[in-house]
Amino acid sequence: MIELENVVPWGRSFDEYIKMFDLTSDELKLNILDCAGGPSSFNAEMTQKGCKVVSCDPIYQFTAQEIHSRIQQTYSKIVEGVKATPLKFVWRDIASPNELGEVRMAAMNKFLADYPQGILQKRYIKSQLPNLPFSDTKFDLALCAHLLFTYSNILSTEFHVSSIVEMRRVASEVRVFPVVTQFSGETSPHLDTVISKLISQGFQVELRKVDYEFQKGGNEMLWVR
Ligand SMILES: C[S@@+](CC[C@H](N)C(=O)[O-])C[C@H]1O[C@@H](n2cnc3c(N)ncnc32)[C@H](O)[C@@H]1O
Repeated sequence: MIELENVVPWGRSFDEYIKMFDLTSDELKLNILDCAGGPSSFNAEMTQKGCKVVSCDPIYQFTAQEIHSRIQQTYSKIVEGVKATPLKFVWRDIASPNELGEVRMAAMNKFLADYPQGILQKRYIKSQLPNLPFSDTKFDLALCAHLLFTYSNILSTEFHVSSIVEMRRVASEVRVFPVVTQFSGETSPHLDTVISKLISQGFQVELRKVDYEFQKGGNEMLWVR
């Protein structure tokens, strides 16, 4: 079980997911798994539009109140951290660290408002990579943002490979964004080995450029079938 103290809850919006994963309007009609969905508002906003998303994350073992308190504890630290390192980011869609805070908080508030209902509807499922509690190809598409590659400093190459293979077991297609690490902003040291291991296991793998770049250099997703 994870401790909430070790989690940095930080969630992105529907618009950001569309760009990070290059999702087309047809793809929004698919049966989607948001793996490591955390406090993102993708599920809430998709549900409002009548689309089907299940999110999974170990953080869903906690109540809305517990997640909300953790967001309050970490929010200013994250915004201050970004203010201290402005050159690591592309200030195009988001103009300033304060605006970043507002945009992220708006997304997380949408998540918090939807969370109790989503738990009842089994749209938020407590589970963690590399083992998912879903049957083979239950989903058309699995998305995973800001966990794999982002936390390359604490997650092994093997963890990356098993997690992607597991997501591909439960979904026909997998997309992972970004492929740079959180702290250095460099391409993940695991990326090349992960790609070769997946190819050697018979998967089709591509690195695709996307129209989203907030973390400098973070404008590619890994696409696996
Ligand atoms: C930075 S958040 C990203 C949230 C969302 N995907 C986004 O991009 O806005 C990373 C999430 O990964 C979750 N996480 C940590 N370990 C995990 C694991 N083993 N399997 C699935 N999710 C995990 C955390 O609880 C956290 O919510």
